[in-house]
Amino acid sequence: MTRGRFISFEGIDGAGKSTQHAWLVNYLRDQGRTVVATREPGGTPLGEKLRALLLAEPMHLETEALLMFAARREHVAQVIEPALMRGEWVICDRFVDASFAYQGGGRGLNWKKLEVLADWVLGDLQPDLTLIFDAPVAIAQQRLHAATSQPDRFEQEQADFFERVRSAYLRIANEHPDRVRLIDATQTPNSINKVLENIVATL
Ligand code: TYD
Repeated sequence: MTRGRFISFEGIDGAGKSTQHAWLVNYLRDQGRTVVATREPGGTPLGEKLRALLLAEPMHLETEALLMFAARREHVAQVIEPALMRGEWVICDRFVDASFAYQGGGRGLNWKKLEVLADWVLGDLQPDLTLIFDAPVAIAQQRLHAATSQPDRFEQEQADFFERVRSAYLRIANEHPDRVRLIDATQTPNSINKVLENIVATL
């Protein structure tokens, strides 16, 4: 059996990635594919408990990184690897790049420490395709405030935090041109759907 495809969705809060994630999942299912729609932090019962802590409890930045990777370890073992082995498509709302962008870029945690964790938890596993939804921070903040009445611990961060997260995502896109596609998230949702259709056709 051929191994399934693994696509991750990334971007700063408010870039509109979750809407497009839901759209692509439906699009692929309409094409008759078996799709596992999942997210990080979370995606397993234990991972969702860790997510609740991560989004609400103040903690040391290294604790935050370790818990993100603990949730990811569980997710990879319980959900992602088994689905890929069954030949299914895994469409994940955030994955390891979010740790580099948020804990590395946003919080300033040493990139090398994150590489050690990524190596430990992922081994050779990488998404086949990562879509980074990019928008200026001011636009993303406006969308976020319009859509969210009770912002979580990350969404409460200030613009300079999101500028650092965005720069880290742009760095990742630059360093991994084969895996990562940068999407201009200021386009209309319909135009973005078309862009995604074209990109996914190449998989
Ligand atoms: P998010 O996808 O924004 O959830 P929602 O759209 O439901 O608010 O993810 C929650 C937050 O977790 C987001 O602000 C980014 C953060 N995060 C990290 O800081 N590091 C990580 O490794 C991951 C996966 C997420």
